[in-house]
Amino acid sequence: QCGIAVESRIDCGRDRSLSRADCEGRGCCYVPLPQSGLGGPPWCFYPVRYPGYKMGPLLPTEKGQRATLARSEPSYLPRDIPTLQLDVMPETLGRLHLTLKDPASPRYEVPFVTSQSRGHKDIQNPLYDVDFQPDPFGFIVRRKSNGRVLLNTTIGPLLFADQYLQLSTSMASSAISGLGEHYTPITLDLNWSSVSLWNRDMAPHRSANLYGSHPFFLQCDGYSVLLLSKMAYYVEVFLQPAPALTWVTVGGILDFYIFLGPSPQSVVQQYHEVIGYPMMPPYWSLGFHLCRWGYTSTNITRTVVQLMRQAKIPLDVQWNDLDYADQRRVFTFDPQRFGDLPQMVEEFHQLGMKYVLILDPGISSASPPGSYKPFDDGLKRGVFIKNSTGQILIGKVWPGPTAFPDFTNPTTQDWWMDCIRVFHSKVPVDGLWIDMNEPSNFVQGSVDGCPDSDLEKPPYTPGVIGGQLNSGTLCVSAQQYLSNHYNLHNLYGLTEAIATHRALLKVKSTRPFVLSRSSFPGLGRFSAHWTGDVRSDWEQLRFSIPGVLLFGLYGIPLVGADVCGFGGDTTEELCVRWTQLGAFYPFMRNHNDRPNAPQEPYVFSQQAQDAMRTAITLRYSLLPFLYTLFHHTHSSSSTVARPLFLEFPTDPNCQSIDRQFLWGSSLLISPVLEEGAVQVTAYLPPGTWYSLHNGEAYCSKGQCILFPAPLDTINVHVREGSIIPQQVPALTTTASRRNPFTLIVALSVGNWAKGELFWDDGESLDTFEHGHYSYVLFFAQEVQNRVNFVKLNGSLDGLVLGEVRVFGVQASPTAVWANGQKVHDFSYSPDTKVCNKCLCFILIFKMC
Ligand code: NOJ
Repeated sequence: QCGIAVESRIDCGRDRSLSRADCEGRGCCYVPLPQSGLGGPPWCFYPVRYPGYKMGPLLPTEKGQRATLARSEPSYLPRDIPTLQLDVMPETLGRLHLTLKDPASPRYEVPFVTSQSRGHKDIQNPLYDVDFQPDPFGFIVRRKSNGRVLLNTTIGPLLFADQYLQLSTSMASSAISGLGEHYTPITLDLNWSSVSLWNRDMAPHRSANLYGSHPFFLQCDGYSVLLLSKMAYYVEVFLQPAPALTWVTVGGILDFYIFLGPSPQSVVQQYHEVIGYPMMPPYWSLGFHLCRWGYTSTNITRTVVQLMRQAKIPLDVQWNDLDYADQRRVFTFDPQRFGDLPQMVEEFHQLGMKYVLILDPGISSASPPGSYKPFDDGLKRGVFIKNSTGQILIGKVWPGPTAFPDFTNPTTQDWWMDCIRVFHSKVPVDGLWIDMNEPSNFVQGSVDGCPDSDLEKPPYTPGVIGGQLNSGTLCVSAQQYLSNHYNLHNLYGLTEAIATHRALLKVKSTRPFVLSRSSFPGLGRFSAHWTGDVRSDWEQLRFSIPGVLLFGLYGIPLVGADVCGFGGDTTEELCVRWTQLGAFYPFMRNHNDRPNAPQEPYVFSQQAQDAMRTAITLRYSLLPFLYTLFHHTHSSSSTVARPLFLEFPTDPNCQSIDRQFLWGSSLLISPVLEEGAVQVTAYLPPGTWYSLHNGEAYCSKGQCILFPAPLDTINVHVREGSIIPQQVPALTTTASRRNPFTLIVALSVGNWAKGELFWDDGESLDTFEHGHYSYVLFFAQEVQNRVNFVKLNGSLDGLVLGEVRVFGVQASPTAVWANGQKVHDFSYSPDTKVCNKCLCFILIFKMC
């Protein structure tokens, strides 16, 4: 019974550490190991077939099958739930849904309401088989085509008590990604590690629970299974080398979706079908954004914009942090330093730019009555979270004492919209930045502390920073409209994002832009995200890549880290390298903390400015390609910034690469991440890759190549067979969107390439859904290039397709024709095999 391989031992003392007597008292095996038990394999572990629940017969239901589980004997936990209901719901060919709940007393369940998430009934021939072990209960999910076991929960007992739920499963592979938000590589460490999911205002560092919770994981090596538990409770996941994991939560139900893929990319798509496809961002939000805490007046903010323009560095969006607000109270602006804020915003608009400012959820509660309308109104309308005895819960954030809006309450959503409408009528902001929405609180729980209860101090002590669920946030016994904060905590940022998105939509009638720090599955439908208060150092630069890539998997593709770092002083070299990498974050914003040395591009040497300008301009030239990727993520949920394993799932070399990444399937980005480095070792998956800069071809068998990377260079390679639509860059997207398009054609070995362009007005609502867009396919073949206008709506009218550069042309063309006319000024280089103006067709986009 106890002869279990060390790596497969499932800890029997997860809830507390046990002596031999305690361990054996639980009926578990006690087998000490030479090393101390701390952090390594457990000494006290469950024997094979440890008693748990006994499963009754499976009976058909409308959605699948149902069985009752009953405990054969009490567990060692207080307040066991003796009887459970198991529902097995095959929802699509590749998606299985399983829930385990207490039928006697319903518990809060996170509502997911996306149109795509509804499964079909009567699934014929799904990709999976499920087997049940009736006593003790467990289930095994296999991939039908090859019998491979993907999950096996019979390796440990199911525990289901009032405030402690636990389930263990084996996994099919050791390459696991997900379970964010943490400061980790792209694949998680299975060497007896653990991660906690509890939203917390915390500067990214190892082992900490950070701003968001994404309770799902993905097996990356082509055997994709994803397990999502849609819970807003605290979750802790223990990972061990078997490979196996143990899922522990302190409330709610167990609610699992298993996605069979079969490819990792299709697993991600299947996941996003449940949580909702990402929003389509406004075009301008893909431009460069500039912010810092410390632009303390409109004049200082104006100067920043002027200096950027003088330096001829593109800038689409200027931001203000909390500096603008009168006594740091949101929905106000300082009458002295920001008295002419409305005019300043107007001036930026005249320049073709946009403006975004910060909104914290905490509403100052200390202003004299009648002097601060958001609080007075909110009070009248009952919008704030209450403590367990029914008074408004007061915490402390930047303005001092604050109350916290309860965004699960429809009245609060309306009040929030009214606040935004009134503010917008004075200051016509283009988007909103919702910060501190974990929610963050500078006192523990509330200014009056929290009650001494099982909610505040669950019998199981969670592994969170601060040691308690209410550390750095609200008392979890606080009352919200839908439930208590214990049940809703991880949803706070998402509910604020939904309310803010809705308000902007109503007020502006264009595509909303919201940037949220806190996140939860589904946030990407409403908001962008940044990775919080990263430090200005090389390690954080490097870890920003997995940080950004993971959010793509979580369905929040518009994501980036603060370029040049937020905390501490940056250096010129770090800031250049960060700007180069940031030029390939889907969301690119340079943001800095108050006490630090400035880090706007123009403060650095001419050489550094030139390098930054090159990087940002390169981004601007690629925006049509990036926008087309966003169209695909919005319409079919393919990823934008993509880990290599997603694109090359059968290439074992790609499994854990997170120092490089792809844009879509065609651009491979290999940044410099080390101080002083002027070369970069990049892995090129098998095939031909062309340097984006000069078209030089590298034929790779799947190998690492050392590339020069002087300070002004970021290595970007184009995959053979792709056509990348570009546009001549400008200082804003307003201007660049009027410039000629260009194409890079990267021929494959078989001399063909293809690409596409999605184009619309960049800001109207639901253009794809209403058919108000153009869609162009580009094909290149040996003798002829073709442009197929799949759909034209006039958005391309007047735009010119200018130069076409073809990479990989094996011999000099004897003549080049475009639209029936001979092109005389083409050039060809036999060294690089690049043909400029080659196969060049000057083509005016017109409605057919
Ligand atoms: C915390 C945010 O993470 C940071 O970006 C912001 O500058 C400060 N709050 C001040 O608003």
